[in-house]
Amino acid sequence: MPRHPGRFITFEGTEGAGKSTLIGKVRERLEIRGVRPVVTREPGGSPVAEKLRSLILGEAMDPRAELFLYEAARAEHLARTVVPALEGGRWVICDRFTDSTLAYQGMARGLPWNEVRAANRLATRGLSPDLTVFLDVDPGVGLGRSTDPNRFEREGLAFQREVRKGFLKARKEGARRWLTLKPGKATPEALAEAVIKELERRKWLPPARR
Ligand code: TMP
Repeated sequence: MPRHPGRFITFEGTEGAGKSTLIGKVRERLEIRGVRPVVTREPGGSPVAEKLRSLILGEAMDPRAELFLYEAARAEHLARTVVPALEGGRWVICDRFTDSTLAYQGMARGLPWNEVRAANRLATRGLSPDLTVFLDVDPGVGLGRSTDPNRFEREGLAFQREVRKGFLKARKEGARRWLTLKPGKATPEALAEAVIKELERRKWLPPARR
């Protein structure tokens, strides 16, 4: 896939890590700096992909069927939403992407890692995020925060620990695009500030007068 003029930033983490809150704060800060990002999510982010989301999250199924549905939703989401935005020079912020597939379907469900990688590549045609912000929380703390558990959250702590292991393995394979934040007691504002600093460090944003 050719390089695009926009920036593609994904957010990853185990359940209840606080991705949505952080994405909201980063978006606010970008808008103040004159960048109006397209904010989207996976699975979902386009009409067909949102239908697939309900199907995937609603029903238990064979792990390979699950993998293909995530990839189907992804291909559709990229074609309708992400790629047109990037080609138009927009920034795209996406809540979960291919690293979630490696972590959940690869590590936690136990599908062969390289096959999941290959499935990702097929769906994305090689499009990779420019930056992946990983919220690394203790899976036990994250699970405790969830009020309306989906079927992945109901898999419990051992599953979430495997998911975290999967993210760490994915990070090892592509470390340069990863920014790991350990929220601990940090406020969402402080975490958003850390993301903005990283964007300045990469010279995607001019330094702010602080
Ligand atoms: P969310 O709760 O962050 O919106 O994500 C939906 C669920 O889908 C979450 O439990 C993680 C899971 N998921 C996968 O298992 N594989 C994937 O490729 C993606 C994008 C999400």
